[in-house]
Amino acid sequence: MEENFSMPRIGDEAPEFSAVTTQGTINFPKDYEGKWVIFFSHPADFTPVCTSEFMTFASMENQFKEVNCDLVGLSVDGLYSHIAWLRSIKEKIEYKGMKDVEVKFPLIEDITMEVSKKYGMIMSGESNTKAVRAVFFVDPKGIIRTIIYYPLSIGRNFDELYRVLIALQTADAFEVACPADWRPGDDVIVPPAGSCGVAKERMDDDSELDCKDWYFCTKKLDKDLVFKTVLKK
Ligand code: BEZ
Repeated sequence: MEENFSMPRIGDEAPEFSAVTTQGTINFPKDYEGKWVIFFSHPADFTPVCTSEFMTFASMENQFKEVNCDLVGLSVDGLYSHIAWLRSIKEKIEYKGMKDVEVKFPLIEDITMEVSKKYGMIMSGESNTKAVRAVFFVDPKGIIRTIIYYPLSIGRNFDELYRVLIALQTADAFEVACPADWRPGDDVIVPPAGSCGVAKERMDDDSELDCKDWYFCTKKLDKDLVFKTVLKK
């Protein structure tokens, strides 16, 4: 049996840690109170899939910031490796129209694997010496709201990361749930899954609702209203 590490789950408080990063020391999640955070791990510096991901994260950083979300990266490499890799990305790598890309968000050095083990980022079936591609969405109160894992060989889908973030913020702000493949502008589910009795009560007297049956009611939610709401947070 391989060594197993515990990992936090959806709904848990994000485990606390203090770490050295390319932007100085951070105390997580305390330093990010009031903000959403995408906290992610990558397997190794100076590797191609990770490079494509970092260029994409960095290119989208402002888009995430506009919806009150900061990025924090981690790998088990050391600080000087991180610095040299990020410099190489900026100076030498051009990929899919992205070039001269500066990574401004903090990248944690985790040589001891203390943080990656705390977050279940080391999966021995993949590697004992590298973190997998884990993504933790942490809300402004420091609660883990979504966890997504990818293996070493597959780069993340950034449309999906952004979609999940907006969907979480929309679900919170409008007290709705988001159906399969939901995107801003699509109908949302009322009330949130799990409280179907409420949907039945509202079925007859709420003209906004489109009830397919007592457990499946949707309503329109304007895309502009979604963005007006998540952008000002
Ligand atoms: C990569 O980022 O290209 C990579 C890293 C570790 C293992 C396999 C691929």
